[in-house]
Amino acid sequence: MTTFPSVAHAPLGTPQVLDRCRTVVGPALREAVGRLHPWVGEMAAYSFGWCEVGGAPVTASGGKGVRQALALLGAEAAGAPGRAGVPAAVAVELVHTFSLLHDDIMDGDPARRRRPTVWKAYGTGPAVLAGDGLFALAVETLAETGAGGEAVRLLSAALGDLVRGQADDLLFASRDWTGPGRVRLAEYREMAEHKTGALLGCAAALGALLGGAPPATVAALDRAGRHLGIAFQIVDDMLGIWGDPAVTGKPVHADLREGKKTYPVLAALGSPTPAAGRLAALLERAGDPAEAAALVSEAGGRSAATAEARHHVGAGEAALAGVPLAAPAADELRAILEFLVRRDL
Ligand code: IPE
Ligand code: IPE
Ligand code: MG
Ligand code: MG
Repeated sequence: MTTFPSVAHAPLGTPQVLDRCRTVVGPALREAVGRLHPWVGEMAAYSFGWCEVGGAPVTASGGKGVRQALALLGAEAAGAPGRAGVPAAVAVELVHTFSLLHDDIMDGDPARRRRPTVWKAYGTGPAVLAGDGLFALAVETLAETGAGGEAVRLLSAALGDLVRGQADDLLFASRDWTGPGRVRLAEYREMAEHKTGALLGCAAALGALLGGAPPATVAALDRAGRHLGIAFQIVDDMLGIWGDPAVTGKPVHADLREGKKTYPVLAALGSPTPAAGRLAALLERAGDPAEAAALVSEAGGRSAATAEARHHVGAGEAALAGVPLAAPAADELRAILEFLVRRDL
């Protein structure tokens, strides 16, 4: 018989929390992926780091598993055992992977999780299809739960926001760097809340919903996750400029080359410094990304991004503080918020 960790354990450090949640969710996630068409399932398994191209089993670094952890902790914070949140955890991890498969095609990125992206390894058409399969599987997983209708409604709303955020992210790339057509920081925040925060919020909220939490708690966890999403995206932007690709498993400077309007760059361009002017000129002529990265730092974009990420972590903590939550899950949720702004992958 499978046993699950009880809610009555001491709060763990974030890497241990992520591991614990991966252990609890893993079997259900594999069972769900096993229901897919074998070829689609292989692409999903490749993305999760369970197999090589061709299907040979392997243990590669999959994702961090942040969303599945938020779902499990959401259920535990509602006073339920973590297993109550497992279908939510499976669904959000499937949707996350679906969004990454399609995102890498949209962004033209060749590497993720230290391996070629699915579209690079299998082709664009198959990667689109694998994403579609994961999405369908996520809906099916939630629909089968007791709270199916409401759970599917929450997930659909988050997906609608994610599409909105991805649309703005793509449209921003062809906007001017400076002048009246420039992307404002408020527009960036809305885009990041949509493309990244909606699913993080949904993860925690769905876990709480399946754990029997009242609507106010579900809403508070959604709000906390949305703030975490903005912080998380800003850190992702920073890692895309100054991160080590050997650690992040993703290309460095890809956002700069693609003209992405990331927070550090927007903040730098808005600073009243000589470096901001030099950066704008360099970006206009699509100059050397390494030089752009140095100018972003010099113009204060890096420290502004760190401060903004911290601000949203604080706002996320405030959302959590507004509702009664069970310990130790609440402490672990707070620890995850803090950890994710200090991460290097
Ligand atoms: C990457 O998310 C996409 C963003 C929303 C920034 P993660 O950094 O959580 O990706 P994995 O799952 O750990 O690879
Ligand atoms: C990812 O945004 C958000 C979604 C997948 C919806 P990014 O494009 O900024 O994330 P990475 O850096 O490729 O993971
Ligand atoms: Mg991307
Ligand atoms: Mg993208």
